[in-house]
Amino acid sequence: AVAALTPKRLAGERILVTAGPTLEEIDPVRYISNHSSGKMGYAIARQARLRGAEVTLVTGPSCLTPPLGVEVVRVQSAQEMRDAVQGCLPRIDVVIKAAAVADYRPKTRAGEKVKKSQESLCIELEKNPDILAELGAHKGERILVGFAAETQDLVRNAGAKLKAKNLDLVVANDVSQEGAGFNVDTNIAKFLFSDGRIEELPMMGKEELAGVILDNVETLRGEKRG
Ligand code: CTP
Ligand code: CA
Repeated sequence: AVAALTPKRLAGERILVTAGPTLEEIDPVRYISNHSSGKMGYAIARQARLRGAEVTLVTGPSCLTPPLGVEVVRVQSAQEMRDAVQGCLPRIDVVIKAAAVADYRPKTRAGEKVKKSQESLCIELEKNPDILAELGAHKGERILVGFAAETQDLVRNAGAKLKAKNLDLVVANDVSQEGAGFNVDTNIAKFLFSDGRIEELPMMGKEELAGVILDNVETLRGEKRG
């Protein structure tokens, strides 16, 4: 009933959503990851589909059930996520990057389980590709929406990401605030737009926030089409 009642304002739009954490292997049994649940990205994919968009969801490991009618690509590492995103890209009008991509991966992956023979252990890490920054560098006519998870100087840090990654909109949240960020059902977000506008949102459910993000995507797409 809800699906039938939702106006199909994103009909014909091809939207790529990334969600969840990435997982970087240390050895056959261990990995580095983060607390992302995938809730925000899955909510965006679901709401975009309800509005009639053609949705591809590139997701890191998450135990959530992907929304019906959405094309799902499962990945583990940041490098796999980058390859999956680049592979879909030619067909995409809007990218919404809700994934919590691991910034670093172990420089080498041990082929065998690491034994606890040493008193202390160092794992050397190297930087992962910044998927969103790469998209921003070759943006074309696409709309790019990023997230910024911060614990301090929210507006300044998120504003820097908006510029550095050439985004149209960054959804900034202070993950140290109660009711925001990882693995909870609510979020407290600020929207920063490329024209300098800032919009402060009240605490709301991730499903509802997904809807507000997509309202803005509709507007941005309308502006781009003229
Ligand atoms: N992102 C990405 N690829 C990465 C890291 C981040 O595509 N290797 C994207 C995230 O999906 C998010 C945005 O960039 O949409 C911002 O992520 P965030 O972790 O807040 O910022 P970083 O640029 O990684 O900077 P830092 O973690 O140092 O604050
Ligand atoms: Ca990061």
